[in-house]
Amino acid sequence: MEQVIAKGLSIESPPEIGDLFASIEERFKGKAEELIPMLQSVQRALGFLPEETLLRIARLTKLPAAKVFGTATFYSQFRLQPIGKNIVRVCRGTACHVKGSDRILGDIQDHLQLIPGQTTRDGLFTLGTVACFGSCALAPIMVINDSVHGSTNRAKALKLIDDIRTKKMG
Ligand code: FES
Repeated sequence: MEQVIAKGLSIESPPEIGDLFASIEERFKGKAEELIPMLQSVQRALGFLPEETLLRIARLTKLPAAKVFGTATFYSQFRLQPIGKNIVRVCRGTACHVKGSDRILGDIQDHLQLIPGQTTRDGLFTLGTVACFGSCALAPIMVINDSVHGSTNRAKALKLIDDIRTKKMG
């Protein structure tokens, strides 16, 4: 285990982060304009950008940590949290909105105790939204992983989620 010290923070690094940064230091020169390619490399390797990796990138590029965090949160391609085992997405397009997708989304948020973009503590669900799935005739649409659930409603949506949780515990 190696330690990263940045602005008074002392963090134990899992070995894979140490290895990853060894290869990043080989591939990049540490220039400020390499910030986004570095963030992309870390996300490709780990699936998300742990806080520690942002602090390391700030140190490598000599950019303020606020700039690195700001960039990582500005672009939707980056995620600061790991993705859950199941991705639940609710359509917020006009056709789905008219048929109540906002209420479905609200119920799911309350049920899972998170907002879109977040992952449940147990790592089982990540919640997201999309502008339109292209299946407006079946509105409102909810997609869990690759399964499209059309003409859904609040009760059905919560049941689908609970069924996944029950299966995992069974
Ligand atoms: S608006 Fe939801 S699928 Fe098109």
